[in-house]
Amino acid sequence: MRAVVTKEAGGPEVLTVEEVETPTPRRGQLLIEVVAAGVNRADVLQRQGHYPPPPGESPIIGLEVAGHVAAVGEDVTGWSVGDPCVALLAGGGYAEFVVVDAGQVAPPPDGVDLVEAAGIMEVAATVVSNMDVVGLQPGETLLVHGGTGGIGMFAIQYAKALGCRVATTAGSPEKLALCRELGADIALDYHDDWVAELKEATDGHGADVILDIMGAKYLGSNVRSLARLGRLVIIGMQGGVKGELNINALLTKSATVTATSLRFRPVPEKAAIVARVASQIWPLIASGDIRTAHQTRFPLAEVRAAHEQLTGGSNIGKIVLTF
Ligand SMILES: NC(=O)c1ccc[n+]([C@@H]2O[C@H](COP(=O)([O-])OP(=O)(O)OC[C@H]3O[C@@H](n4cnc5c(N)ncnc54)[C@H](OP(=O)(O)O)[C@@H]3O)[C@@H](O)[C@H]2O)c1
Repeated sequence: MRAVVTKEAGGPEVLTVEEVETPTPRRGQLLIEVVAAGVNRADVLQRQGHYPPPPGESPIIGLEVAGHVAAVGEDVTGWSVGDPCVALLAGGGYAEFVVVDAGQVAPPPDGVDLVEAAGIMEVAATVVSNMDVVGLQPGETLLVHGGTGGIGMFAIQYAKALGCRVATTAGSPEKLALCRELGADIALDYHDDWVAELKEATDGHGADVILDIMGAKYLGSNVRSLARLGRLVIIGMQGGVKGELNINALLTKSATVTATSLRFRPVPEKAAIVARVASQIWPLIASGDIRTAHQTRFPLAEVRAAHEQLTGGSNIGKIVLTF
């Protein structure tokens, strides 16, 4: 099969398409023939050598795919060869075929074609599982950074569907307008003093929950923006990994800071998240309550351009590779 191979860490130029051996499904696994693969920030980190796959997982980059079941491993029930599907992976997605535990596979949402579906599972599973971790409740205020990124677009709509007030940050007037169109109540330019603007827009309350993708750079600002009993969940490190935590600011609010990685969760946890997404989020997508993110598509051979687009600063929504 054709797959994207990285022989060394580096820029987009280390991504090459080569022939490699097609994997065989083990007990409990499915082999999927990939129609399209989602491109995620974590893929860039892995390419750069900062985010190696969990032990035992494929070294091939790629955390989500959509396609058709090509073979069914022993002890797998409910799937047949040819079934359309989407999968959450710990690696291996940038390839014509991938094997994955059957629990991490779901049918695509109704009315969504497979190329579009390839860009939904990773963001949906990340947002839903993290909002479960911090117990986001209807009526609470969520701040999500990067409102027009894959995570942000989904999080705004998910929190609105839950009955929350949503604040978000973005880096240009066009992107801020899109955030409002997606349902954000408060859209903040991250070049400005968004901490003060959030306080003002919420009458001094701040955010009950913050979904953060910036890490170290925003740690202090995020803690300052939390309401009493607020919860900050960090899922990205775009602004660095080591920050200074003001414990006094945290304890006076009885606030919580946590961080999670979907990729490193054990298989049974991922299976539970995938099942929850398929049963509770897919109907919201089918009904139009959650719109899938705008997609930019690249054929597999243009994988380098796909990575350049993701990190170039002008991208909106999701990027997928098509096979
Ligand atoms: N831990 C996990 O399990 C997990 C899972 C999935 C994703 N993630 C992480 O979540 C992050 C977002 O993923 P994604 O798929 O949404 O990536 P993406 O589509 O590439 O979006 C990146 C976002 O970062 C925003 N951004 C850049 N600089 C910013 C700043 N100074 N302040 C606020 N926002 C800023 C961008 O906003 P502008 O375009 O407006 O500049 C853009 O919306 C990534 O770091 C990814 O690694 C983690």
